[in-house]
Amino acid sequence: MGKFYITTPIYYINARPHLGHSYTTIAADCLTRYRRLKGDDCFFLTGTDEHGQKVAEAAQNFKKDTLAYADETVGVFIDLWKTLLVSYDDFLRTTEKRHTECVKKILTKLNESGDIYKSSYSGWYCVPCETFWTESQLTAKYCPDCKRPIEKINEENYFFKLSKYRDWLYEYIKQHPDFICPTSRYNEVKKFLETEELQDLCISRPKARLSWGIPFPFDEQMVTYVWFDALINYISALGFLNDDDSKMKKFWPADIHLMAKDILRQHAVYWPVMLKALDLPMPKKIFAHGWWLVEAKDLAQDEIKMSKSRGTVIDPRDIVQAFGVDAYRYFLLREFPFGLDGKFSAKALIKRYNGDLANDLGNLVHRTLTMVEKYFDGIRPHKKANETILKNSSKLIEEMEGLDKKVDAALEKLAFTDCLDAIWSLINSTNKFIEDTKPWQLNADKKNDSLAAFISLLIEILDIVAFQITPFMPLTAQKIKQQLLAEKITKGSPLFPRIEKDQ
Ligand code: ME8
Repeated sequence: MGKFYITTPIYYINARPHLGHSYTTIAADCLTRYRRLKGDDCFFLTGTDEHGQKVAEAAQNFKKDTLAYADETVGVFIDLWKTLLVSYDDFLRTTEKRHTECVKKILTKLNESGDIYKSSYSGWYCVPCETFWTESQLTAKYCPDCKRPIEKINEENYFFKLSKYRDWLYEYIKQHPDFICPTSRYNEVKKFLETEELQDLCISRPKARLSWGIPFPFDEQMVTYVWFDALINYISALGFLNDDDSKMKKFWPADIHLMAKDILRQHAVYWPVMLKALDLPMPKKIFAHGWWLVEAKDLAQDEIKMSKSRGTVIDPRDIVQAFGVDAYRYFLLREFPFGLDGKFSAKALIKRYNGDLANDLGNLVHRTLTMVEKYFDGIRPHKKANETILKNSSKLIEEMEGLDKKVDAALEKLAFTDCLDAIWSLINSTNKFIEDTKPWQLNADKKNDSLAAFISLLIEILDIVAFQITPFMPLTAQKIKQQLLAEKITKGSPLFPRIEKDQ
């Protein structure tokens, strides 16, 4: 039995969570559930990022006290994760004392070790991205990342010595090609280090300009830069520098930090250097997946990122209401490979639902249960395959027995689509096996032993399918298991009633 520590980003609470946030969170949940099935001791951390200018401004817009506003929006995240069956072990809010105290202790420690210094700064700042830009990085007066207007600022601040660790980081990344995934993201970070000078990171904000942040322990005039504060959540939640740091001892280093590519640099450059300066081991893997895009209303662009600041979001609750939570989880992880971008469309969702879920899985379960009810009075037969059945099923049995290995290999690489492909391949082979074997004929010919052996095999496969889909579709897995365990099996109602387009 091993240990498994996985994290999602802590999301900003300046707006409601959308499909994009649920993607990362469900992926993390799926991996955690898989590891729990394998018997690993898991710690799955998520939470909310509550400081910084964006959150302060959002509260002002609603004419609310910032913490009161935060309390309200956090509830929306927690409710959504409940709806989506997200089984996190801990939820950290950066306004909690266990976090703010840890951040202060870290600032003190890094200040004492000489990794923090004070200096004046003059340059450009992007509020939505909370990022500084130097003249040389700009071609116009907008942010190179988000293309929104930037502000000129001139002020004294504290800086963290990123530059001092540049060579170390570069070597570390080169020696650990699996540290940053997928490979495209690895190459991006490596190239960044090769082509751009690593600037020290400005980690304070004068209170006079922004008061909503963690106060600097050694300078009353300053609060902590929101990114420096936020990244620390991954260790403050484990009790780093706290009296009780048993979780830190048990779970650090993280096995996987999950996020999308928009926040790769903070995780693959700032965070490793912060850890190095604290003399902590590196996380095992930083995985930055792609973006969910939506059709652009603007004809000049085909598709754009689903994003709350652009107002182009899909609310997960709408989909769950129409399709159910398991279909939602399935669709997210099935539709395109983890790591690439993909476009959301209702048409694709309906197609997956009616095809993979209603037709393939739903039908297999329904017809198997129907046969148990019809041919065996609802009593599950237990019979080893006889010759008639073996003749047709050797390939199927091979596939059934090989599934576990394929699932392991795929999930080891976070290849959710490959994993589901392998499970669905078994489902489809089984549906085909039913058609080829013609059980209605066996019944008509009174070949009872063969029929019993045939159905025993189908149920064995359903047991395996239910087990393997558990991390993706916990409710459906549970339903299938319950149906198969019933003393008297009935066909019941379909798991996924077909949805017509006009619905
Ligand atoms: O960046 N497609 O928070 P955030 C896929 N607080 N994933 C998406 C997405 C999309 N269109 N939109 C959002 C922050 N995400 C910081 C993080 S961590 C120490 C601090 C997901 O609320 C994806 O995981 O902007 C992305 O990285 C994250 O939400 C950004 O969330």
